[in-house]
Amino acid sequence: MLRELVDVVGAPHVVTDAEVLAPHVVDWTGRFRGHTAAMVRPGSTVEVAGVLDVCRRHHVAIVPQGGNTGMVGGSVPLAGELVLSTRRLDHVGPVDLAAEQLTAGAGATVEAVQHAAAAAGLRYAVDFGARGSATIGGSIATNAGGINLLRHGGTREQLVGVEAVLGTGDVISRLAGLVKDNTGYDLARLLCGSEGTLGVVTAARLRLVDAPDHTVTALVGFDTIAHAVDAVSAWRRATDVLDAAEIVLDAGVELVSTAFGYAPPFERPSAVYVLVEASAHDDPTGRLGDLVAAAVGVEQVAVADDAARRAALWRFREEHTAAIGTLGVPHKFDVTVPIGRLAEFMRDVPHVVTAVEPTATTWQFGHVGDGNIHVNITGAAPEAEALDEQVLRFVVACGGSISAEHGIGTAKARWLPLDRSHGELAAMRAIKRALDPDGILNPGVLLT
Ligand code: FAD
Ligand code: MLT
Ligand code: ZN
Repeated sequence: MLRELVDVVGAPHVVTDAEVLAPHVVDWTGRFRGHTAAMVRPGSTVEVAGVLDVCRRHHVAIVPQGGNTGMVGGSVPLAGELVLSTRRLDHVGPVDLAAEQLTAGAGATVEAVQHAAAAAGLRYAVDFGARGSATIGGSIATNAGGINLLRHGGTREQLVGVEAVLGTGDVISRLAGLVKDNTGYDLARLLCGSEGTLGVVTAARLRLVDAPDHTVTALVGFDTIAHAVDAVSAWRRATDVLDAAEIVLDAGVELVSTAFGYAPPFERPSAVYVLVEASAHDDPTGRLGDLVAAAVGVEQVAVADDAARRAALWRFREEHTAAIGTLGVPHKFDVTVPIGRLAEFMRDVPHVVTAVEPTATTWQFGHVGDGNIHVNITGAAPEAEALDEQVLRFVVACGGSISAEHGIGTAKARWLPLDRSHGELAAMRAIKRALDPDGILNPGVLLT
């Protein structure tokens, strides 16, 4: 089989050296570790189709892998699957100014697409901390959300079309950039969020948005979570200039400051902070200031309108993931609950955790403007699955979703029935059977 793969992609792109393979068999968090005999690195859609053909004939399963920054154990070969790296499919096409779109290869990083858009005076709206490593293909496979979903939607909303090789071996390509296109099922949006279980995305046509002339960022300290959540709801209703509204707690800000040697943002801490960003063609600072002034429970505010000071505020939010990682391998939950129950959820979830793991610590942060909280737990063994179950059951009891933006992966696959009905699961299984009849794409992911 390896010889056949060499015929498809060339010998340098069938990697079997254990040292080179090592970072590709463990996920970003360190919680999910697998093994593989090889990683193939196709350089074109035709080569991806060739690799899938070889794998189907040999009944060997594949894990598609982009930047390997996924958070749910979906990008690593836990059962010895072949790794199909998309990193060589990294072309970024020219910006089509008339359509405000571009075409990018699946292996291009989100940051490379952002840079290409910015060079043409536009913006790729999807943004998140792993932008420098996460790929367009991975972000489509996971329907990545990120910090600007509040204003521009997530990855699915930016997707105009895709090229992909389905599990059947068929190549589908719809990259013409037609904004209105009702000719049948929307396969691009079906593949988006399918976590590599239906097809390997090889390229995508992406929507770009206007770049603002002014951006202002504020870190707003609140007395309570409830006041912070209420303020963000009110701001969302009152204005359309908000790009991001992110929540962090005092303990997390202190952890980031200590872990990376940053001076804390304020002399005296607040219990809760909202990092809010607004942008517009005219300066939105006054409008943002009015909104903050009208909010209940505000204790202090730091405002930044230049790139360096804005980045200095953002690091207290974006570096949570890395700072928590310095404490050991975390359990990570990425959940949404209805906005009316968010404060209650954040108050109670640490008690749900300590009821199962008395010595564990709960960290909470996330995209409060979307009702999306990242609950991270340190101090529990990676295999402590009773903890995962109790947290996810609590999310569902609060009317929430067990995955807001990271997907189900292998981490939550066994708990999907908590959140999806018999009919929904049957429909998903039927789609999986139709598009991947031999079950070679990410067999342990999403549907078990
Ligand atoms: P990988 O990790 O390589 O793969 C993820 C999944 O997609 C796997 O199931 C894999 O098999 C599949 N896959 C990958 N490429 C393809 C392809 N071409 N075709 C089909 N399937 C494929 N996520 C958010 O949503 N919002 C955030 O704010 C956010 N912030 C993050 C911050 C940090 C610091 C880190 C480390 C991660 C963050 N993530 C976030 C999670 C992660 O970056 C995203 O899920 C991202 O979309 C994964 O992209 P990737 O290229 O690394 O995919
Ligand atoms: C984030 O918003 O920072 C991410 O989704 C990553 C994480 O959950 O750690
Ligand atoms: Zn996130």
